[in-house]
Amino acid sequence: MDDAPPVLVHQAITHDSAIRHVTGAAPYIDDLPEPAGTLHLALGLAPVARGRITTLDLEKVRNTPGVVAVFTSKDVPGRNDVSPSLGDEPMLAGDEISFHSQPVFVVAATTRRAARIAARLGAIEVEQEWASVSIADALSTGETVLPDYAFRRGHPEPAIDGAARRLAGEIEIGGQEHFYLEGQIALAVPGEGEAMFVHSSTQHPSEVQHIVARVLGLADHQVTIECRRMGGGFGGKESQASHWAALAAFAARLTGKPCKLRLDRDEDFALTGKRHDFLSRYRVGYDERGLIEGITFEHLARCGYSADLSLGVVDRTMFHSDNAYYLPHVEIGSKRLKTNTVSNTAFRGFGGPQGVLAIEQVIDAIAHERGLDPLDVRKANFYRDGSSVTPYGMEVFDRATLLPLVEALEASSDYRARRIAIAEHNARSPILKRGLALTPVKFGISFTLKHLNQAGALVHVYSDGSVMLNHGGTEMGQGLYTKVAQIVADEFGLPLERVAITATRTDKVPNTGPTAASSGSDLNGMAAREAARTIRLRMAEEAARRLDVAVSAIRFEDGLVHGGDETMTFAELARFCVLERVSLSATGYYRTPGITWDRAEKTGRPFFYFAYGAACSEVVIDTMTGEMKLLAVDILHDCGASLNPALDIGQIEGGFVQGLGWLTTEELVFDNEGRLRTHAPSTYKIPVASDVPAHFHVELWDEPNREDAIYRSKAVGEPPVMLAISAFMAIADAIHALAPGNPVQLRAPATPEAILDAIDRQRAK
Ligand code: MTE
Ligand code: MOS
Repeated sequence: MDDAPPVLVHQAITHDSAIRHVTGAAPYIDDLPEPAGTLHLALGLAPVARGRITTLDLEKVRNTPGVVAVFTSKDVPGRNDVSPSLGDEPMLAGDEISFHSQPVFVVAATTRRAARIAARLGAIEVEQEWASVSIADALSTGETVLPDYAFRRGHPEPAIDGAARRLAGEIEIGGQEHFYLEGQIALAVPGEGEAMFVHSSTQHPSEVQHIVARVLGLADHQVTIECRRMGGGFGGKESQASHWAALAAFAARLTGKPCKLRLDRDEDFALTGKRHDFLSRYRVGYDERGLIEGITFEHLARCGYSADLSLGVVDRTMFHSDNAYYLPHVEIGSKRLKTNTVSNTAFRGFGGPQGVLAIEQVIDAIAHERGLDPLDVRKANFYRDGSSVTPYGMEVFDRATLLPLVEALEASSDYRARRIAIAEHNARSPILKRGLALTPVKFGISFTLKHLNQAGALVHVYSDGSVMLNHGGTEMGQGLYTKVAQIVADEFGLPLERVAITATRTDKVPNTGPTAASSGSDLNGMAAREAARTIRLRMAEEAARRLDVAVSAIRFEDGLVHGGDETMTFAELARFCVLERVSLSATGYYRTPGITWDRAEKTGRPFFYFAYGAACSEVVIDTMTGEMKLLAVDILHDCGASLNPALDIGQIEGGFVQGLGWLTTEELVFDNEGRLRTHAPSTYKIPVASDVPAHFHVELWDEPNREDAIYRSKAVGEPPVMLAISAFMAIADAIHALAPGNPVQLRAPATPEAILDAIDRQRAK
């Protein structure tokens, strides 16, 4: 039984739900038939960002028609905590209010409308206290959610002071709302005895299970979580789906009825964490050619009121503050600032994009100060032989991909000729200025928390030869289910339709990590292949016995099983196996090899490998209005030997556009009282189809992963977000044309206001 070359893997196969997505036939949780007697939940929200509740009068809420029950923190049977880690996130606020719109009570009613009307009638009186809202506020209080953390190599201060050239600056980096199309939702259904079943729109069913159990005071085995699909997660449902699932389960437990909680869009904005916004300070010393000799970063991250995932997120900012560049003498420090705002969380790239944006701005500043093309400064600073170890001590062993990939894009995008054409255009055009930038991405693949790098799967072959596939990964539109099904179908030599893709459930595969860090297909693909292989080997032994050939002579192909001159169908063999009492069910398990990162010691290898990419963007800005248009984008991205080029290109396009939103139009505004003023599409602008440039060209870099990842592919979910930094740097390039030789100071997002501010600063130089 040898490994036949893959038939479905590496093919551009349509997402298993593509047609159902566009016809509306793919059920999301709110589409599921509601069990008889389902109650609908709504939340009573804190009217201030910080203070102590003095009186809570819920009389009017209780007396509203349709209301069945109203619960507060006092009713929680287990622990009133929905935090992923530190025990610092109450499900319902007790006496203390920590951020504006924090949930204080929950109403269960016969209709959603009744619950929502009633929830607004709660009288919450609060002794208001000063709220710490901004990064500046948090710096003044000195409050943090987690201890400061830094890496250091060599002697950065003397290296900077001794360098021929020096620069220092501050980089403002905005946050981002996830704006998944399906908002946060959960439907909890009480089962027999104390059992609780929850449909949750979550990237992390196991954690939802643990938190529901914790809140209800149950053992994990009494709680089952199911997620068939999310209408987008983007990191926003990695830790922050638990809260709503816990509330639904809590109300279901106390009322004995199924309970559904769906946040509306404004609530979803106000109540859930976002991408961390940052203020990053740097000092850099470099030589006449722009080669960095020493650099320090201090990343100040607004984390909100609790720790949530800020440990890992801000660590990833630090891990990506080198991006593609060798930093000989370096210190990368961080502060995780505590504010009275929602708790910021995972968002595609998990802190990495902020680190990459910071170093790319430094590179641009160096190039502008030296009068060099930023692309030349980038290439000069790339990891290379002899200069190949990251600030955290990991060898960039796959660095050989970086320069050829960037040079291939430089050629295919015609970068040099366009640079000249743009300079000529800008010389003729006083108002409209064009800009061009080509930026690289190097993104570390693996969870930096070691124990998350494991996965499990469960595969059954039924007696008709059809296959049931289940694994711990969740589907949020990225196509994970399709990729894993391709892998399993190929193991059995079956067409894709013979493999049933089934909802992720904690009672099928236990103790899973979140589907995050882009590693879903790396981990679950391997685990599912392992399960399928176990069954295939048992089936091959049975076939060999029947056909009287060696096991090594058995081949699984096109739904058939061949051995010697004889052939039977896969379904026939499955039936024989059942008759001969051969088990056709198996679990599979995988853990990523070689991960040794020790955070306390600051040594080891945090990443299995790096994914690379590069993008070239051209923009035009109107220097009178600050308007910007993205004219053309060329992308070359490394997915290793792609598992599915169609899905991967979709991820690259989607990731780029989401990154573009973060860097150009999506602006979160909290007022001084800590209230989010941009809580709907009316005031918060995500990209739309018309923001996609007319020329938007994506190509895959065709080179197998050097590491033994599944079929030598590479993870693709998050890295493309950072390709959009090319558009941001192209805007900076256009502004630079107004006063060449001076570093541009442009804050992200580069809204028209930010562009005008940067233009004013540039002209003043
Ligand atoms: N693509 C779609 N369509 N929807 C999503 O929610 N989430 C992104 C990315 N691509 C997301 C997406 C994030 S944040 C991650 S970590 C990865 O998908 C997770 O899936 P993967 O590990 O299977 O790539
Ligand atoms: Mo993605 S931010 O790792 O869920």
